[in-house]
Amino acid sequence: MEYNIAVVKGDGIGPEIVTEAMQVLDKVGERFGHTFHYQEVLAGGCSIDANGIPLTEETIEICKNADSVLLGAVGGPKWDEVPSEKRPEKALLGLRSALGLFVNLRPAQMHKALSDACPIKPEIIGDGFDILVCRELTGDVYFGRHYRRESDKGWGETGADDMNYSVYEVERIGRRAFEMAMKRNKKVCSVDKANVLETSRVWRETMHRIKDEYPEVAYSDMYVDNCAMQLVRNPSQFDVIVTGNLFGDILSDEASMITGSIGMLPSASMNESGKGMYEPIHGSAPDIAGKGIANPIATILSCAMMLRYSFGLMAEADAVENAVEAVLDAGHRTADIAAPGEKALSTSEMGALIRAQL
Ligand code: IPM
Ligand code: MG
Repeated sequence: MEYNIAVVKGDGIGPEIVTEAMQVLDKVGERFGHTFHYQEVLAGGCSIDANGIPLTEETIEICKNADSVLLGAVGGPKWDEVPSEKRPEKALLGLRSALGLFVNLRPAQMHKALSDACPIKPEIIGDGFDILVCRELTGDVYFGRHYRRESDKGWGETGADDMNYSVYEVERIGRRAFEMAMKRNKKVCSVDKANVLETSRVWRETMHRIKDEYPEVAYSDMYVDNCAMQLVRNPSQFDVIVTGNLFGDILSDEASMITGSIGMLPSASMNESGKGMYEPIHGSAPDIAGKGIANPIATILSCAMMLRYSFGLMAEADAVENAVEAVLDAGHRTADIAAPGEKALSTSEMGALIRAQL
């Protein structure tokens, strides 16, 4: 089969890690008889430099017409001073919204070989954990109105951001979470702040209504502050965590760190028709950009998610994940996951080792 992939390398370490991941896809193509065609497009800071704006209509069109989108990372200190409407992050939010990518899957698994990198005590971690954060991605305070107004207490200029969730949006992401749980350990924990926020009360009521459609799934609710605490207290209690855009942003960073490194975690963002954008959950890491030391594994594992979720290529996805596992088992590490004194591989050395396993 042939597949067209729009590639947004982006800023910072984006180009380095995406280059490795594309070569992994090519290797998969060779072994399984597929051809991946890439069309590179600009988004984020590099697009600001080239076009004056972070996201052009052309980039949106190419991403819409592709079978799938592979993205590195956007942003960096170079563009910190640009006005908020033109920040590199707008490219990411703009793509999510233009492609309707309402579901964001962020799996956080503990790789046995990396248990030393895990900041949590072994007696808490036990046999490890396997969490899927299912984050709503096109709603919430992220996409509400952002504005300035006069304070109603007479305190002058005030920033305001509207937070909202419709019943429809909660049903849509909620059902996805239950469907994912049915293929996993059949547990859904819905995370909100229903003790304070009206948005969360709509969220919780709606989740309670749809949970009855999935009688096999064990359902629970949790307040977001408690969830942040439970993730480090007892992460293995979780299977699927479903939550809104803002809470999901925060909790997925936390979930990634308890696996040992944020450099390991992939993500998939999908719309109703299964079209997806795949990216590592870490950012552009400007401090190490251009040094060739970034960990490409999160991006490579994001390609595995692309193979599985957008192309239905299960064996190919498994092969990529197994290759990563084998390289880690053999003790190979990039700097972010190396123990003190352990040899740290470069980005391209790590990529090459993973390809060799394929
Ligand atoms: C993420 C990032 C983005 C987000 C930023 C870069 C806008 O943190 O994908 O988690 O907040 O969604
Ligand atoms: Mg984030």
